[in-house]
Amino acid sequence: QPPADAADPAAAPTPLTPVLSRYWDDPRSWTLDTYRRHDGYRALDKALRMDPDQVIGTVKDSGLRGRGGAGFPTGTKWGFIPQQDDPTAPPHYLVVNADESEPGTCKDMPLILATPHALIEGAIIAAYAIRASRAFIYLRGEVVPVLRRLQAAVAEAYDAGYLGRNILGSGYDLDLVVHAGAGAYICGEETALLDSLEGRRGQPRLRPPFPAVAGLYASPTVVNNVESIASVPPIILRGPQWFRSMGSTESPGFTLYSLSGHVARPGQYEAPLGITLRELLEYAGGVRAGHRLKFWTPGGSSTPLFTADHLDVPLDYEHVAAAGSMLGTKALQIFDETTCVVRAVLRWTEFYEHESCGKCTPCREGTYWLVQILERLEAGNGTDSDLEKLLDISDAILGKSFCALGDGAASPIMSSIKHFRDEYLAHFELGRCPFEPERSTLLP
Ligand code: NAI
Ligand code: SF4
Repeated sequence: QPPADAADPAAAPTPLTPVLSRYWDDPRSWTLDTYRRHDGYRALDKALRMDPDQVIGTVKDSGLRGRGGAGFPTGTKWGFIPQQDDPTAPPHYLVVNADESEPGTCKDMPLILATPHALIEGAIIAAYAIRASRAFIYLRGEVVPVLRRLQAAVAEAYDAGYLGRNILGSGYDLDLVVHAGAGAYICGEETALLDSLEGRRGQPRLRPPFPAVAGLYASPTVVNNVESIASVPPIILRGPQWFRSMGSTESPGFTLYSLSGHVARPGQYEAPLGITLRELLEYAGGVRAGHRLKFWTPGGSSTPLFTADHLDVPLDYEHVAAAGSMLGTKALQIFDETTCVVRAVLRWTEFYEHESCGKCTPCREGTYWLVQILERLEAGNGTDSDLEKLLDISDAILGKSFCALGDGAASPIMSSIKHFRDEYLAHFELGRCPFEPERSTLLP
């Protein structure tokens, strides 16, 4: 059944709102010259004339919510940082989480590649607002072209006086360090990231205390996602009401939706929060020719699956949650009817088993057993008690693991059994995968 508050498919389509992506197609979009031609660093100039508290107030008023997955209000997070100018207090830090690794999530790397200065300008404004004089960008190290482009842009920003001592004559000093992570998914979890940045093995810390209280080197630290930080300069320049004119009251603004998989024109589509997949598919040329939608992820592989019944769910935090999933990173992976859902879920579960950091038992042991059972089910060697075991183990992981990775592993399994139990049953009734030999080309 479609959700009761689904958007009306007959209504006028929601227009795309390219802000972050508006000149990604410009030749040499990543240079400082191009960025300046598109209002680059004007927001910084404006912010440095404001009081830090006023900058935080503006971001709070905009209602910007974290684009890394959880949707926590960005201005509120900044407001947790002690605002007194006490020289004896520990330093504050800004850390940008650019360790994008969720299967299907692919917005931050294109953003940095196309417009690294948007991230750098946002980071300087955020650091100024929280009174930090040192900021870090923790980047997924394997994506070497992105690393090189970001490092080159940071060097350009230093040369132009946007970083370093006495920025734009304001008296404010900031050093920005780009750190290349070694490629562990768990280092995208904010506290594991901080451990890794401090030179230790990346494993999640117990929260609370949250990083805002005790983060990097036990100092007050803001950890924000790339897209959240890059959204700050246009908010400062154009004001919170402009931002609120898009999206909904609870989920205001524009965002990047990443469409991948069985879709005619995969890519980044920037739109107001609350657009539906039906509308996004119109812009993306629909599901690939001759095929129909079978299932999709609203927010990367860690979020419960949706089906064709959810095409009209407004893609904002509240509606997606009410429909039983999470907006997450807005990574919309589209699968058509040629895809074996058991195979897809097995592939994701192998990823979580490999990336589990091993700190807690439900996730470390549970993901191992989930892979064993899914492998035999997919090969047609399972039994119906295996389905119950899958649900049992998933239940022992969900909400009982130390960090969100465990929940992410269990969610696609539980939702796939809910929506496609018959397909699981068909595997052991036939003694093989019903999609053999015509498997989807998307999966190994
Ligand atoms: P969370 O909801 O626990 O926290 C979100 C943010 O708010 C954190 O920065 C946290 O420090 C802050 N926060 C929350 N409560 C606070 C409080 N009382 N005081 C101060 N600060 C507070 O979510 P979490 O575990 O940090 O992230 C999970 C999300 O990450 C998932 O929703 C998932 O979609 C996403 N994710 C993203 C990936 C990517 O590649 N971008 C990869 C895997 C997961
Ligand atoms: Fe590590 Fe998994 Fe436990 Fe997270 S849930 S702490 S990744 S073992």
